Amino acid sequence: MEIYIDTADLKEIKKAKSWGIVSGITTNPSLIKKGYKSTSSSMGKYIKEILEIAGINCPVSLEVTATSEFGMIEQAKDFHDVYNKIAKNVVIKIPINPDPDNRVAKYDGLNAIDKIQSYEIPVNATLIMTPEQALLAAEAGAKYVSPFAGRIDDFLRERLGMDAGRNFMKSDYWPADGDLKKLFKISEDATKLTLESDEKKNLNQRFHIGIENIVKDSPHKYRFHDNGIYSGVDLVAKTVDILKDYKDVKVIAASIRNPRQVREVALAGAHIATIPFKVLDDIFYHKKTCEGAKKFKEDVVPEYEALF
Ligand code: G3P
Repeated sequence: MEIYIDTADLKEIKKAKSWGIVSGITTNPSLIKKGYKSTSSSMGKYIKEILEIAGINCPVSLEVTATSEFGMIEQAKDFHDVYNKIAKNVVIKIPINPDPDNRVAKYDGLNAIDKIQSYEIPVNATLIMTPEQALLAAEAGAKYVSPFAGRIDDFLRERLGMDAGRNFMKSDYWPADGDLKKLFKISEDATKLTLESDEKKNLNQRFHIGIENIVKDSPHKYRFHDNGIYSGVDLVAKTVDILKDYKDVKVIAASIRNPRQVREVALAGAHIATIPFKVLDDIFYHKKTCEGAKKFKEDVVPEYEALF
């Protein structure tokens, strides 16, 4: 699985690129808003810098702001014309459905993908929340599809009555399909959920309290999944599966919030995971790694040291 970095922060991009493991960058308007704050450049220069740091062979996804088919196509063409010559690495991000109200322009994303790819401009279809949205984007010619794992986990937890910040932190792992089946027994009458006691011990406190509340007073069977999707990782796994015959389409596991998701989306066969700097940083830490490093350092004898 390739590693992309999900950030528009120049320092983070430079640092992660220096490790030699990052082969692409993804941004969105929220990340640009954040990254731009810490520069003194004009927006044009700032974007140019991102593209230069990335360099050739390191695709950078940049999202359109228009929501109409025509607007997105025009932006994609203009943007590509101006910025792709810097390092030939511009990928245009198009929301599968750019219409916040799901009424006026809901098909415009798909139409735009179809047209933009016909100009040989690579498209990353974003805000993918179901495998079937990914399927439509792939059929329309997207080169990348980005299922949003973390946001599906948020959605599932919120549907269960859990509040971000109170019952869970956004970075908390939410069990993928198989684990959920082990964690919960759905009772015959389909209105009560009981936790299997052994597994209960393994749940962290916030998750535990959240589930206890749910079990107490809710009608539940169907809220543990979003139309058959049990977690963000499950969304990625099913997207990979549904697109297995689309050899030219890469699945980018996006909205990644913790290292375990990175592992699981890799196991699920995602081609790429786009990972925030903080999550990459967390991957380095393990108590025993640090303990081991300390002990090895203490045990170096001078004769061995002298060899280097
Ligand atoms: O890769 C998409 C991403 O930037 C969204 O992440 O954590 O805001 O859901 P998040």
